[in-house]
Amino acid sequence: MSVSQKKTALITGITGQDGAYLSDFLLSKNYSVHGLQRRSSLPNDDRIQHQFDKGLNLHYGDMTDSLNLIRLIDKIQPDEIYNLAAQSHVHVSFDKPEYTGNVDGLGVVRMLESIRILRMEQKTKFFQASSSELFGLAKTSPQNETTPFYPRSPYATAKLYGYWTVVNYREAYGMFASNGIMFNHESPLRGEEFVTRKVTKSVARIAKGLQDCLYLGNLNATRDWGHARDYMVGAWQILQHDNPSDFVLATGQEHSVRQLTELAFAEVGISLTWSGQGVDEIGQDSVTGKVLVRVDVAQFRPAEVDNLLGDSTRARTLLGWSSTVKFKDLISEMVQADLRDMDR
Ligand code: NAP
Ligand code: GDD
Repeated sequence: MSVSQKKTALITGITGQDGAYLSDFLLSKNYSVHGLQRRSSLPNDDRIQHQFDKGLNLHYGDMTDSLNLIRLIDKIQPDEIYNLAAQSHVHVSFDKPEYTGNVDGLGVVRMLESIRILRMEQKTKFFQASSSELFGLAKTSPQNETTPFYPRSPYATAKLYGYWTVVNYREAYGMFASNGIMFNHESPLRGEEFVTRKVTKSVARIAKGLQDCLYLGNLNATRDWGHARDYMVGAWQILQHDNPSDFVLATGQEHSVRQLTELAFAEVGISLTWSGQGVDEIGQDSVTGKVLVRVDVAQFRPAEVDNLLGDSTRARTLLGWSSTVKFKDLISEMVQADLRDMDR
């Protein structure tokens, strides 16, 4: 690609898990990559530091600051915007419902309206990081693009507003605006307060003798967990499609938090034996009898999404996208990365 053909992308949420994978991917495709970074008192660019010498450009901004967003989009003139910024923790959204609505819901309007105000509707394509949490208390399984939504948290209701705003701007103004309805995706870069990373990091610490026990909430919840790298390739493919549209990205495989925990401990050679019921359930080292897992009621949510399982047939058929990493390999990669971190 010549310099004149080089595409420009703006990624909100570039300092998060997905932002790091997406910017890596777009830089490898010779994009000029710009990211929106929140000002913080401590560095928040650990995940993307290695990309600075590849030409990554960061700009201070916030999803709650319309003027800043308009100014940045005007300055950057992006061909593609990937809106990944969000207060992304479901449990935290019950404590911060208004803020979550402001960032995750109204933030989408701010971005799309900025594009319109700047008369860039025909230039700029828009990807919205929508979520399988939209399905919430789904009545059918697996879930696809036609499954009715039933959000179960302030996070999910905010994302629902964002989802329909994207559809509305597409239909009302002919904008190239698309939703990726993404099921859970994880990696060694996953935030430590999400269940996969909490488990893999705790298992690494327990294996190194730095922690005694892992405290978890709902062990029976099931999720469709894939690798974040795959999902960011999917986000890019969604914007390269001929028409704007909405796509489910998922693995089609479902596992419980209990299975995740068993797999992570197996990675360090520990087999678990479960006993007890409900909040009294424990997981013990099958050899030593030591209690390694307990239930912590503080991790229960006011309303839970018990099961999620996705059907990404549409993305496979129209985009040629599929998830490439098996759950067992994902958890193995995460535990091994956490073990290496402990040795540093
Ligand atoms: P993440 O690691 O929590 O990253 C969230 C990003 O948003 C961070 O860069 C964060 O900045 C930024 N952010 C938060 N509030 C902001 C604000 N007010 N203004 C500007 N930036 C703000 O989340 P992720 O896992 O990468 O997920 C990326 C997106 O996909 C999110 O929208 C999430 O809701 C959605 N999604 C994720 C999954 C999944 O399984 N990972 C599934 C479906 C949808 P700081 O670094 O400063 O905190
Ligand atoms: N975080 C957490 N911590 N979750 C726990 C724990 C715990 O100690 N114990 C059990 N769980 C259960 C939760 O109740 C939930 O049912 C499941 O594990 C997954 O929780 P999270 O990893 O926090 O992810 P999530 O599914 O709520 O939300 C993630 O995926 C969504 C897509 O479905 C986030 O990345 C969202 O931003 C994303 O939209």
